[in-house]
Amino acid sequence: MEKFKDYIDKNSERFLNELFELIRIPSISALKENDSDTRLAAELIKKHLLNLGLNNCEICETPGHPIVYGEKIFDENLPTILVYGHYDVQPVDPLNLWDKDPFEPYIKKTKIHPEGAIFARGACDDKGQMFMHVKALEVILKHDGLPCNVKFMIEGEEEVGSNNLEIFVKNNKEKLSNDIILVSDTGMISKNIPSITTGLRGLSYMEVEITGPNRDLHSGHYGGTVANPINILSSMIASLHDTNHKITIPGFYDKVCEPTENEKKAGSLIPFSIDEFKESIGIDNEYGELGYTTIERQSIRPALDVNGIWGGYTDEGSKTVLPSKAYAKISMRLVPGQKWREISSLFSKHIKNITPKGVNSKVTEHHGGEPYVAPTNTIGFQAASKAYEDVFNLKPIPTRDGGSIPIIALFEKELDSKTILMGFGLDSDAIHSPNEHYGVSNFLMGIETISKFYYHFTNLYKSKY
Ligand code: BES
Ligand code: MN
Ligand code: MN
Repeated sequence: MEKFKDYIDKNSERFLNELFELIRIPSISALKENDSDTRLAAELIKKHLLNLGLNNCEICETPGHPIVYGEKIFDENLPTILVYGHYDVQPVDPLNLWDKDPFEPYIKKTKIHPEGAIFARGACDDKGQMFMHVKALEVILKHDGLPCNVKFMIEGEEEVGSNNLEIFVKNNKEKLSNDIILVSDTGMISKNIPSITTGLRGLSYMEVEITGPNRDLHSGHYGGTVANPINILSSMIASLHDTNHKITIPGFYDKVCEPTENEKKAGSLIPFSIDEFKESIGIDNEYGELGYTTIERQSIRPALDVNGIWGGYTDEGSKTVLPSKAYAKISMRLVPGQKWREISSLFSKHIKNITPKGVNSKVTEHHGGEPYVAPTNTIGFQAASKAYEDVFNLKPIPTRDGGSIPIIALFEKELDSKTILMGFGLDSDAIHSPNEHYGVSNFLMGIETISKFYYHFTNLYKSKY
């Protein structure tokens, strides 16, 4: 393992060029017009897996975007690591806020990344992070050899809810059987403070449509006489939080597991500066549920946010119109205890209940997923901890993350195995935003950490079984 770093440093330019080739493919899973690109990304990953000598490499078709699979099984008595990641990316709008073409990666130095960061859509989420696993495998194969079995499963629909992966996992339990699942699709505390994500929030994603009059009306002739769907929707949305910023949907908190003293303590040990938090996103005050800290609000407490709202006239100049319809997309982040289907139906019922006379409401469920929490007393966590210590010279801190990767809870249910979330992204990487980026050193240190994980995990496994 001593030579890993040398090899990574010597080959870093090629690693980056290979990643750039993948990033240049605009594999936006949400947009139909990008379907052929999405497939090209899958094919390029398959090519990399084949070049590494993995067996049974295939592009598994689904009704949506394909899943790339490959494996190397050489001893049934050794543990098996299943690597999961996604090659799809979020849409790039608003395009005018990007400094350059989102799919033409370039390296630029930043305050946080003085060695340079890769700027492009997918640089961090998740092409950059997923590709670290491909390169870690190369590093391992070029040196001490694989100490265990490995399976790769890279999907193309994470950013749209992983519905087809869910079916694939349920239908391929034997093929996907493993001792530990390894994922890099989360973040770390800061560049020098490594952390391991031990929890993710669940998600329930809904859309609300309010219909008033059967056509857009003249807002002078009709204004003041009929319910305006946008006015109504706005007040309905405003009523979803009370003055303590608690969510008002009846039953919403009923099953929430309150944090234990240990969890509260773990949260308070995470290095965090509220001033840096505020400065980094340009706000003058934090905001959220009374009685909880910002770290708690963003990890162990649920949240409800409007992601988009539209209707009426939004183009240049003004048009006096009282719209027929108004829409909103709303996401709810869920914590242990809450079940996404239950929450979705509580939401739908509540919206129906608060819809006033004069308009009709329609609620659609987009997708969802359960929250996930991982124990820290496992050999998987210990192995990850050792790997980080080797590379960063610091013990990683366990943290609960606010984001969601819905398929992780499903892995636990269907494949009966835990996931280790070894993420190397930073909050400042602007994932899903214009000018997304990923530190070159995060990428390279990530490759090294992952490579070491394979050996620590196999050794701990052997000493345990
Ligand atoms: N990689 C993210 C999730 C993430 C980011 C977790 C940062 C923790 C820290 C993932 O690609 C993502 O964006 N997930 C979506 C959910 C999905 C169903 C659209 C999310 O969290 O919004
Ligand atoms: Mn991701
Ligand atoms: Mn994402």
